[in-house]
Amino acid sequence: MIVAIDGPAGSGKSTVARAVAKRCGLTYLDTGAMYRTVALRCLQRSIDLSNAEAVTAVARGCDISFGVAEDGSQTVSEAGEDVTSAIRTAEVDHNVSAAAAVPAVREAMVARQRELGSAGNVVAEGRDIGTVVFPNAEVKVFLTADPKARAHRRAVQRGGEAAGADTAEEQRILDDLVRRDRIDSTREDSPLRPAEGSVKMDSSSMTVEEEVQRIVSLMVAAGWRGKGADAAGG
Ligand code: CDP
Ligand code: CDP
Repeated sequence: MIVAIDGPAGSGKSTVARAVAKRCGLTYLDTGAMYRTVALRCLQRSIDLSNAEAVTAVARGCDISFGVAEDGSQTVSEAGEDVTSAIRTAEVDHNVSAAAAVPAVREAMVARQRELGSAGNVVAEGRDIGTVVFPNAEVKVFLTADPKARAHRRAVQRGGEAAGADTAEEQRILDDLVRRDRIDSTREDSPLRPAEGSVKMDSSSMTVEEEVQRIVSLMVAAGWRGKGADAAGG
């Protein structure tokens, strides 16, 4: 069973993918974390993100792996160094789409993603999972939400309710999300778009639990009989 979840920044992909993986005992694959790691390494080495050749060399040299922290949350490492927090900064947010638009960078990341998913039973989320990485996924979801709702969620996620009330900060996050969506949707290689056969879900008016239930139901309809299937009425 492969579940592919794609959608714009802050639509809730990670939250819902993690929850589905936990409920059904599948492996969670955060592909955005991989592009973020490439962008982080470029920034740390003062590499110009518009220099495709240099960015490609960094991507090819990255040794990215996922682990589990003591509290059960996922960790991301590159060459053995934990980069889980370092890849979530505003600076990485701002630069990651440039790195992700380079075809050779994508080629390297997609190869690693398929390797990580080769054992099957995966919930993968990103921008091109249903279109490119796992086009034969049994369940494909295109998750969207109103940009303002996405920016508000991201502000709250970054700094708690207080930050969510900071309208200037929220506007900055909104501008960056919109800019990133534009680059991700208009790039030539693997642009963000709904995959053929994907189910569109607008999370603006749904709770995380409703989203999870809906996806587990789609899994059951696609033949899933493993963990979590009973609760979905399968
Ligand atoms: O969490 P958020 O939605 O803000 O972003 P992310 O999923 O961590 O992805 C960060 C960036 O990586 C995106 O804006 C894309 O530029 C790129 N990305 C991609 O090109 N393809 C993917 N499968 C996943 C992410
Ligand atoms: O991975 P992506 O960037 O698409 O989004 P995320 O980081 O999973 O979600 C951003 C925030 O939206 C999280 O704090 C979620 O709790 C929240 N949220 C959601 O994912 N779905 C809802 N229906 C409501 C809120």
